[in-house]
Amino acid sequence: MLSATRTAFLRASARPQSRTAALVRGVSVWSNVPAGPPDPILGITEAFKRDTDSKKINLGVGAYRDADGKPYVLPSVLAVSARFLPSLSRTAFADDEVCALQAEDKVISQRGDKEYLPITGLGKFTNAAAVLAYGKDSKPLQEDRVAITQSLSGTGALRIAGAFLARHYPHSREIYLPAPTWGNHIPIFRDSGLEVKHYSYYDKKTVGLDFEGMKRDLKSMPDKSIVLLHACAHNPTGIDPTREQWREISDLIKEKQHFPLIDNAYLGFASGSVDNDAFMLRHFVEEGHQLMLCQSFAKNMGLYGERVGTFSIVCADPLEKARVDSQIKILVRPMYSNPPVHGARVAATLLTDPKLNEQWLAEVKGMADRIIGMRSTLYDLLQELGSKKDWTHIKNQIGMFAFLGISPEQVDRLAQEHHVYLTRDGRISVAGITNHNVRHLAESLHEVTKNDA
Ligand code: LMR
Repeated sequence: MLSATRTAFLRASARPQSRTAALVRGVSVWSNVPAGPPDPILGITEAFKRDTDSKKINLGVGAYRDADGKPYVLPSVLAVSARFLPSLSRTAFADDEVCALQAEDKVISQRGDKEYLPITGLGKFTNAAAVLAYGKDSKPLQEDRVAITQSLSGTGALRIAGAFLARHYPHSREIYLPAPTWGNHIPIFRDSGLEVKHYSYYDKKTVGLDFEGMKRDLKSMPDKSIVLLHACAHNPTGIDPTREQWREISDLIKEKQHFPLIDNAYLGFASGSVDNDAFMLRHFVEEGHQLMLCQSFAKNMGLYGERVGTFSIVCADPLEKARVDSQIKILVRPMYSNPPVHGARVAATLLTDPKLNEQWLAEVKGMADRIIGMRSTLYDLLQELGSKKDWTHIKNQIGMFAFLGISPEQVDRLAQEHHVYLTRDGRISVAGITNHNVRHLAESLHEVTKNDA
């Protein structure tokens, strides 16, 4: 039992506290914070999760799914270590499944410490990532003039790029993005303090590249403008310039002295070959552009949640690289101090262990091939259903996405009437299509488009 004095004390101290709490609730500091809209891409997953229909399909977020529609951890990454599965001995797996030590296994078996990484990340990873993108014969790499830092995947790299440009690019505060572009590009650069503008890219009539419009806009924007280019597998359209067109674009950018910022989130995903997909970047570097590169390992290594990427700048010489490097550190330190270690160790292992590297490259090709196969299956089914629309773009587009060329209202009908979820610009993640759901998708798409002219 409480003493009378203690009870009185508790009452006295409780009263002002509850009054304060009520007052604080009444005039909350955040009462004027408006509710924001859901994210145009990640919000789709939330709507999909709320849908209880068994036929539902999520083609919103660009994340690879296996042939059964399940999230896919690459076998080269997958840990089959007895440490994780204590009840199963290694003999429970076939030899090829165990494949010596796989990347995550290797990382775990080496029992690396959990110390902070340097501000610019794990050198073994960033060096190997640079060679992957720029190529082993790259002159700027051989001349030690590429400043590179590990980043929180592609988004983090773009954010560092935006901050670096806003602080150090001497000629402009504007950045030109293709129309359309990945939805997140716009807030990334706005929040970095740049003014976002657009150049023509997509031709609605042909559901293809508006090459003439793109060249016209590159010519008419002020000299030395910052121009963002998607290296391959353009998101959201899946429409890439041809090699010949890239050569022309490079010449034009050089003539106008524009500054190219290259977003390379899908290396290997477009064609199944890293070297093929790196053509644009390597061509621009050979042509002498001093460019910035944002690289993600979310898609090609399936390391989505590990947040593994790089940001790099091609500099004029090693001394400039050192100065640029010091400024990257000054930007990164107050943002997140230094990047996470585990995913970078996994990626470094996949990039540097010859056997695992070979296996990983084959798996990238396997993912790209499954996507290409699904494009054809969807196209064939639409033909079989008697769709009068020309869907050849589904087969011609490249990479993870197909840009269907349908209206936001048709997208809404797909979700509401058919439980098929995609972004409102009419983009589908082809990586989410499987043999199990492709017929339902084709029937739904045919249904909402059959009255189109
Ligand atoms: C996408 O475009 O769906 C992906 O890049 C995932 C994301 O973060 O938006």
